[in-house]
Amino acid sequence: MGKTLILGATGNLGGLTAAHLHRSDPQSLRVATSREAGLRRLDRRFPDAEAVVCDWNVEASLVEAMDGVSKVLVVTPDIVTDESVVTPNVIRAAREAGTVELLVRLLGMPPGFTLEQADPAYVAARCGAGLHVVAKPLLDASGLPVCYVNAPAWIMFNLPSFVATDVKANRRIAMPASTDCPRMWVSEGDIAEILAKVLSADPAQHVGQEYVLTSPDRHDYAGLAEVFTDVLGETVTYVDDDQPLREAMGASFDQLMTYLSHETGSYAGVRHVDTITRMLGRPAETLADYITAHKEYFQ
Ligand SMILES: NC(=O)c1ccc[n+]([C@@H]2O[C@H](COP(=O)([O-])OP(=O)(O)OC[C@H]3O[C@@H](n4cnc5c(N)ncnc54)[C@H](OP(=O)(O)O)[C@@H]3O)[C@@H](O)[C@H]2O)c1
Repeated sequence: MGKTLILGATGNLGGLTAAHLHRSDPQSLRVATSREAGLRRLDRRFPDAEAVVCDWNVEASLVEAMDGVSKVLVVTPDIVTDESVVTPNVIRAAREAGTVELLVRLLGMPPGFTLEQADPAYVAARCGAGLHVVAKPLLDASGLPVCYVNAPAWIMFNLPSFVATDVKANRRIAMPASTDCPRMWVSEGDIAEILAKVLSADPAQHVGQEYVLTSPDRHDYAGLAEVFTDVLGETVTYVDDDQPLREAMGASFDQLMTYLSHETGSYAGVRHVDTITRMLGRPAETLADYITAHKEYFQ
């Protein structure tokens, strides 16, 4: 069995997944970053794994990183990724390596949603499904042994990024009302545990699968404020205000707003499937669990 390569191991999901694999089998783990500075972080966090520099915009760099690799995880960041460059590079490099038995790709798109159904503005925003509707058909057609882990939901790490500062200081959730809808929420911990489980198993079990990760409950912003109120024991209210999101997103704010204006509708039709409980053998982490476990961000 060759190595397991985590592309984007400095990232949220890549890092958490690599942490699982580092605990169980560090010698077979190869963690990658596109930046020299990232190497130092990887060496500190994963001292017993091999850390490499790999830029997925450069095919030769991917070919080098995939040398002797049997499993690969690809998680591409929103806004900055051009999937029409990155995904063909990943496909060509995996073919050239010739040893890849499982390529796991993180998605966040309504199952079955296609590039043809997507508004060009949504695709151009390069967020979430806007990236993934470009990548998935390329991977589907590649003939490579691909497995998708698809979370058409909001990942709970959005809470520290988007609302924690205001919840802590003002006991309010400030988000633009135009982005509100009843969303499913999935924790980054559950996603990473599933990614690690898939990457640790016999590849034959997972090739050709798409694991859709959702939650039984949906929460709009007012509902989210109620969960905060229950967990923190103090009233948290929702207000229609885009300033905190503007500050969090900087120059990418308009791109995100374009994406979310479509996402509010496209996520609405996603049906819950019990994949997380089935794969992990325990209930999925709820919003209340998450806020309780990360109270220091919010209180
Ligand atoms: N937010 C949500 O609610 C939500 C919901 C569903 C799905 N998603 C999806 O989740 C994904 C984001 O996950 P995340 O937050 O874990 O990502 P992230 O923390 O932004 O990590 C992305 C990784 O990509 C690496 N990277 C950037 N440029 C690179 C390059 N040129 N070559 C190689 N690696 C490069 C970065 O590492 P270096 O900078 O060290 O190279 C980083 O580790 C997106 O696809 C998003 O659509 C998000």
